[in-house]
Amino acid sequence: MQAVPEPVVQAPAAAAAPAAPPAVVVAETVAATEPQATSIEPEIPETRAVAAAPAAAAPPAVVEKPETSKRPKAAAKLYGSRTLAQWIKLAVGAVAAAAILVLAARGVTTLPGVPEFLERYPGEYSLPQSADAGFPWWAQWTHFLNIFLMVLIIRSGYQVRTQQKPPAFWTPKSGGKKISINLWLHQSLDILWLANGLIFAVLLFASGRWMRIVPTSWEVFPNALSALLQYMTLDWPVENGWVNYNSLQQLMYFLVVFIAAPLAAITGVRMSEFWPKNAKTLNKAYQVEVARALHFPTMLFFVLFILIHVFLVFATGALRNLNHMFGGTDVINWTGFWLFAAAIAITTAGWYAARPIVLAPIAKLFGQVSSR
Ligand code: HEM
Ligand code: HEM
Repeated sequence: MQAVPEPVVQAPAAAAAPAAPPAVVVAETVAATEPQATSIEPEIPETRAVAAAPAAAAPPAVVEKPETSKRPKAAAKLYGSRTLAQWIKLAVGAVAAAAILVLAARGVTTLPGVPEFLERYPGEYSLPQSADAGFPWWAQWTHFLNIFLMVLIIRSGYQVRTQQKPPAFWTPKSGGKKISINLWLHQSLDILWLANGLIFAVLLFASGRWMRIVPTSWEVFPNALSALLQYMTLDWPVENGWVNYNSLQQLMYFLVVFIAAPLAAITGVRMSEFWPKNAKTLNKAYQVEVARALHFPTMLFFVLFILIHVFLVFATGALRNLNHMFGGTDVINWTGFWLFAAAIAITTAGWYAARPIVLAPIAKLFGQVSSR
């Protein structure tokens, strides 16, 4: 019976608490989105100076600050401990949700017809002809270069999106539009990334290896569903990546290589200076806003893919998988792991090198670098 007064007391408190924050949340959201909108084109600071006027709308958040300025120290503690508590809650919630999913998936596998389905569609179908098993040197190298470039592309793209005061600017030799050094880096890496992707695609088709990552039968869908169900039960599909991927893997690799990568390119080029400005009908049919709206979610897709991909590489026989893609053999030893570690070390070095002091001399070879 104690339960009655408790909710009664809590309810108004709970109702009052969220009632206040929304005002703050709205103010914060406006303040947060506003600079982002201006940061999208950091390359035109002059016009920004004019456009910066509306950004003065942001000050309300700043004006509000004195009011809350007593809070920071206490708030830091409060929010600090709250975040920790929230993290713990989140972690517990995630584990509970995962456990429920696993149990539910296991339940599903006992439903009538499902065992037969899993038997009929084991999670992979055989390749149309025997493509050569294994990972040739060019697949290993393009995969490594892809990791290296992709990490820096994501980072520089994120900087383009968030950095309001780029440390430097770059103007092409031909005297085109001035852009931030972040965008210069982003686009220069994109050119290398596209070249790498093109080499991969040509060799993929020339070698007949394409059928490993391009679905060749409608059976890919029920098999992918079957593989997903097996992943969810934690009774994972048989690992056979040396010869053939499971259907879920195949679909994801296909999506990444043949849908997401071209989408990133076509939306990126639309926003860039490479795009023809005078093609009026084309530009009306394919508006830059559409490209802008798609480009960022495409990055999110890449990030999500990479997280799951790398998790599964490590969770489904790390040494063997790493030997496939980094060592080119199907044995189980540490060679692939150390080559992978070297790849990560080089990528990390690239991350630290990608700063103005290193970039400026390179950017100068292709144009002018200025601090504003
Ligand atoms: C630390 C990062 C990464 C690691 C450790 C890794 C590891 C691997 C491994 C071991 C395989 C072979 C799977 C098997 O044998 O079953 C593979 C294949 C593949 N990975 Fe990654 N990968 C990484 C990052 C990426 C990134 C950033 C992308 C793309 C955005 C990517 C796309 C692919 C694709 C498309 C394949 C299939 C390629 C083919 O068979 O030709 N990977 N990866
Ligand atoms: C050929 C490929 C690409 C080209 C030509 C390209 C080009 C561009 C351009 C011109 C911008 C600036 C947009 C602006 O000024 O508002 C941009 C932003 C960005 N790019 Fe790319 N990009 C490419 C690939 C990628 C890839 C593969 C990723 C990540 C996986 C990526 C992530 C981003 C992000 C996060 C931004 C910031 C977007 C925003 O402000 O909303 N880009 N890219």
